Amino acid sequence: MNVHLAGGEVYKKDFPIFLSNPGLIYLDSASSAQKPKSVIEAVSNFYENDYANIHRGLYPLSDRSTELFEDARKTVADFLKAESPDQIVFTKNATEAINLVKYAWAEQHLNAGDTVLITIMEHHANYVPWFDLAQKKGVNLKVVELNSDEYVTADEVIAQIDDTVKLVAITQMSNALGVKLDANRVVTHARNLGIKTLVDASQSVAHSPLDVTEIGADFLVFSGHKLYAPSGVGVLCLSKDAMDFMPAFLMGGDMIKSVSLTEVLYADAPARFEAGTPNIEGVIGLAAAIKYLNKIGMDWIELNDATLADYAFDKLIELGSMVRILGPRTKGLRGSVVSFEMKDVHAHDVAQILADNGVCVRAGHHCAQPLMQALGVVSSVRFSFGLYNSISDVDKAIEVLKTIPNIFKR
Ligand code: ALA
Repeated sequence: MNVHLAGGEVYKKDFPIFLSNPGLIYLDSASSAQKPKSVIEAVSNFYENDYANIHRGLYPLSDRSTELFEDARKTVADFLKAESPDQIVFTKNATEAINLVKYAWAEQHLNAGDTVLITIMEHHANYVPWFDLAQKKGVNLKVVELNSDEYVTADEVIAQIDDTVKLVAITQMSNALGVKLDANRVVTHARNLGIKTLVDASQSVAHSPLDVTEIGADFLVFSGHKLYAPSGVGVLCLSKDAMDFMPAFLMGGDMIKSVSLTEVLYADAPARFEAGTPNIEGVIGLAAAIKYLNKIGMDWIELNDATLADYAFDKLIELGSMVRILGPRTKGLRGSVVSFEMKDVHAHDVAQILADNGVCVRAGHHCAQPLMQALGVVSSVRFSFGLYNSISDVDKAIEVLKTIPNIFKR
């Protein structure tokens, strides 16, 4: 991989936040990515020119609004390489999408003695719902632990699959470590055994091309806000099978075929899972984000973001014992993130000093407390990269880190 390819600097001009905050170094895209002008304009143009509720009105504004919303579903389906737009269910975020699977499917189908298999690298969104299921229904929650190099591989997940496992729910990229997990291999193995699968693509979706048909998971989820789209919109991509086998959960308007005092007939997917007025503007913004990403190319973005993660890894290694990098000591395994702790300095102090120098990072447990516990830390500092980052952003952050031991010298 060529370090000089990491040239996201050129795209900063597409993001108004960098124009209104000169000198801003934003290394917190895993928390939420900044929004390109085209997304902001798509949302405000919609409000100014086309806004009305969808699927309801008989007048031109509502027709246009519905068309934009359903076109957005096609844009998302094409981006994910889904076979049909009907596989795309719009939710509030990945958390809601996982909870939908939990309440609509898992609570009805899993019982005491069944196992849900996850990894220790999961975000709380893909841990807490299964913990709750285990508490309520006596389902066994099995967690694939870290290996000696502080990550989890596809083989290690596969090795834990036994005939009690009824759901494998795994991240495709750790939001806290940036480590990639080969979800294709795990899902293929599980599906061949008739086991249901869920892939949390929240961290991977903005950093690598996705092909849901090739992955073949029953459920794949992500949040729009990490994909340069507005917050408050997420996606649950269902397999063709899941479109049929998953029952309705949230009940109300727009998810029915017909309602009478004696009978309710539910709509087919995706409408069955989209009760009530959705985040129409968020969905339109999500489509605009995807169009923007398509213009740049996900292959380039993948190379840029992974190159930056590797470059940051090298630079942190050069700081020697001052820094402990969390996760594997090998390059090429991280897609967009590097996490570390600094010797004798709390992660929040490191983040504060970086902030004082114009560098935005996240410090804390990254909504992955079981992972932090397994790593033996309470919190860490996280550099996370987006398509607008470049080598010079990393260099600036590293220069600030070098000053920290002196600040804390007695
Ligand atoms: N899940 C987001 C993060 O990783 C909020 O920081």
